[in-house]
Amino acid sequence: MEFSMMASHARGKGTKPDAVFAVLKRANDAMAKYGKEKVVNATIGAIYDDDGKFVALSSVSEYYRKMADEEMMSYAPIAGIPEFLQAAIDYAFQGNQPENTYTAAVATPGGTGGIRHAFYNYLEQGDKALIPDWFWGPYKTIADEHLRGVETYKMFDEDYNFTLEDVKVKTGELLAAQDNVVVVFNTPGHNPTGYSMTDENWSEILEFFKTQVSDKQKKITVVVDMAYIDFVGSSQKTRNFMKLFGGLPENILITLAFSMSKSFTSYGMRSGALIAVSSSAEVVREFANGCQFSSRGVWSNGTRACQRLLADMMKDPQLKAKMDKEREQYSSLILKRADIFIKEAQEVGLKMLPYHGGFFITVPAADPKATAEKLEADNIFVVPLKKGIRFAVCALPTQQMSGLAAKTKAAL
Ligand SMILES: Cc1ncc(COP(=O)(O)O)c(C=O)c1O
Repeated sequence: MEFSMMASHARGKGTKPDAVFAVLKRANDAMAKYGKEKVVNATIGAIYDDDGKFVALSSVSEYYRKMADEEMMSYAPIAGIPEFLQAAIDYAFQGNQPENTYTAAVATPGGTGGIRHAFYNYLEQGDKALIPDWFWGPYKTIADEHLRGVETYKMFDEDYNFTLEDVKVKTGELLAAQDNVVVVFNTPGHNPTGYSMTDENWSEILEFFKTQVSDKQKKITVVVDMAYIDFVGSSQKTRNFMKLFGGLPENILITLAFSMSKSFTSYGMRSGALIAVSSSAEVVREFANGCQFSSRGVWSNGTRACQRLLADMMKDPQLKAKMDKEREQYSSLILKRADIFIKEAQEVGLKMLPYHGGFFITVPAADPKATAEKLEADNIFVVPLKKGIRFAVCALPTQQMSGLAAKTKAAL
């Protein structure tokens, strides 16, 4: 660039086109040209029904629409409405809160805001966050924006089995180079693969982390990005791992990035919370103060309507049951769509990464761009990643699932 008006740290940002939106545009163009039924659009990260319509949980939508103006449009306190903060904690754990721990929450605009607060407040400038090698792109954007970097850990071995070996190696390496390490686990229902860490995976990695922090100068902050937790299975089974977060030393902090985007189909309304879990009351107090200050300095307060909805829902078991029931129907629908793909993939011998739930399934590919292009020639639009191609089963009508695995195999 010849001339830049921007400050040195900001130069050159945002020049690469967004990969997902570029494919989405081509998919929309194809739909306009050939008709909706002729195009498989596997790019959208939101729930669409089998008629191809955007899904808003009607119980949620109705609740927003009858909310008083003041609750809907007024400011919320910077940290969040107190009842919302408790509701976010209760909703995140749903009875699986670890024993002898302290918790606090700070309202954030979705999971994104929570990840931002963790990267900014628990890493020094120039430090690296440790994220999976199959990752949601914004982790890197958020790190870059805040003058932090990322290191990746391999999630799967050569046979596509989940492994913790590389997380351990990379945690050790980062701790040798920096005092603070933030490690991100996007589970259950990882984007883009759909993998969910088991309770055994969690026990193993937490035990390992404990061995790494005997020097009090060294600190590990775990971010559990739980954006897809309600699209994997029963809330009890998927949240059981949270009980393992007890009994950790004060220099291991667990944070949960809770998002209302998917669970309440409120993507654009921007609500969630970062929740801290620690054996130390002081660490949790510092978290609440520091993150609240961050919120004030970055986006001010969160969306009050969403906070009110969650707070009211957690006080009203009937309302919660209604929303849970409606959400479960869509969660089952997504799992059913994925099952068709998984079954056919087995039949045609197509390798895929282990899917347990969530919005996406991923097929590894040596040349993802070329594979995506071949599929596009057949009006199948997918997102090419670095090492595979991603299908948004959340948005694909069930009747379009059949045959996709075979076509993917042929394209490969
Ligand atoms: C892996 C992952 N984490 C977090 C989020 C957070 O989204 P939001 O900020 O809307 O809660 C998303 C949304 O797409 C995601 O895919």
